[in-house]
Amino acid sequence: MKGRASAPAKIILFGEHFVVYGNPAILASIDRRITVSARKVREGKVTIKSDIAAGEFEGSTFKLIEGVNARSALDPLYFAAKHALDARKQKTGLEITIKSDIPYGVGLGSSAASLVATIAAIESLLGRPDKKKICESAIEAERIIHKNSSGADCYVSTFGGLIHYSRGGGFKKVDAKSKLSLVIGDTGIKHNTGELVSSVRKLKEANQMAFGGLMSQAKDICNQALAALGSGNIDQLGVLMNESQLLLERLGVSHEKADELIDVARRSGALGAKMTGAGGGGAIIALAANKEDSERIAAGIKAAGFAAFEVEIDPKGLIVG
Ligand code: PMV
Repeated sequence: MKGRASAPAKIILFGEHFVVYGNPAILASIDRRITVSARKVREGKVTIKSDIAAGEFEGSTFKLIEGVNARSALDPLYFAAKHALDARKQKTGLEITIKSDIPYGVGLGSSAASLVATIAAIESLLGRPDKKKICESAIEAERIIHKNSSGADCYVSTFGGLIHYSRGGGFKKVDAKSKLSLVIGDTGIKHNTGELVSSVRKLKEANQMAFGGLMSQAKDICNQALAALGSGNIDQLGVLMNESQLLLERLGVSHEKADELIDVARRSGALGAKMTGAGGGGAIIALAANKEDSERIAAGIKAAGFAAFEVEIDPKGLIVG
C-alpha cells in the first residue's frame, strides 16, 4: 500500500521580503509539481529519496545514500515525517520517494512543495489527510530551513491559485479577471533564502527611515496590483511588476544575471518582469499579453543561454492520491 500526493511550485508576484515585516504579498501556485509516494517499511527507519539527495534516518543517526548537502536538504522532510508518525503514535518506518519537475533553490517553492506533498502522502497512508493541518505542519518544518519564513509558500502550495497574504491579515484567495500568461526564466544560480532575509534585516536596522519608505511603496504597489488583477488590467500589472523590481534592486537582493534575464524578457515583449522569491540569482517572472508573446519571451531567454518555461496559475494546490 502506498500514500501519494503532489503539490505545485509557486511564484511571488508582489511583496517578497517586505512580507517578512508585515506587508502584503501576492503569490500564485503554478503548473509545475512535486510528486511524493510513501510506503511503510520496517520499524524505526525513514528513508527519503529525491532527485537531489537520498538518505536514511534511524533515531538520531543519518546514513548518506547520495547527494551534496543531503542531510540539510532532507532534515526538514524527516522532521515532518517523524511528526506525522508521532502524532498518530505510529512506530512504522517509511520509504519516501520524491520526484520533482520544479527547479530547486531558485525561489520557486520546491522545498515548500516537497514538504506539503510529503506530509500529505504520509497522512494518506496513515489516515485521513486534512489540508489545513498538512499546511501547518509544512510551515513548522520549513521554519527549520528558514526560521523567519512567512509560511506563504506552504499555504499557496497547499491551497493553490492566486493568494493575497500578510502576517497580520492571513491568507485570502484572489480572483483574477484575466488569465495570466507567465514565463519563468531561471538564472541557474541557487540562493539561500535565510541569508538574503538576514541581509535585508541588516539593511533595515541600519536605516529604518529609508526602509520604512520602501515598505510603504511596496504596500502601495501590492494594493494597486490587487485592483489590477480584479479589473483584468494586465498592462497595469506589468507596469507594477517593473516598479516592484526597482524596489527589490534597492534592497540589494536582485542579481546581475536576474537583471539580464529581466532585460531580455522586456525586450522580447513582456508587459513587465521581475525577480521572484528571495533573489540572489534564482528565477525571474515575466508577464505576457498572450500566448504568442509568452512563447517569444521564453525563446528570447533561451537564446540568451538560460532555461525558460511558460506557466499558468495552478488552481488545484495539493492533490492527494
Ligand atoms: O525564494 P523563496 O521561495 O525562499 O522565497 C522567499 C520569500 C521571502 O519573502 C524572501 C521570505 C519569506 O519568508 O516570505
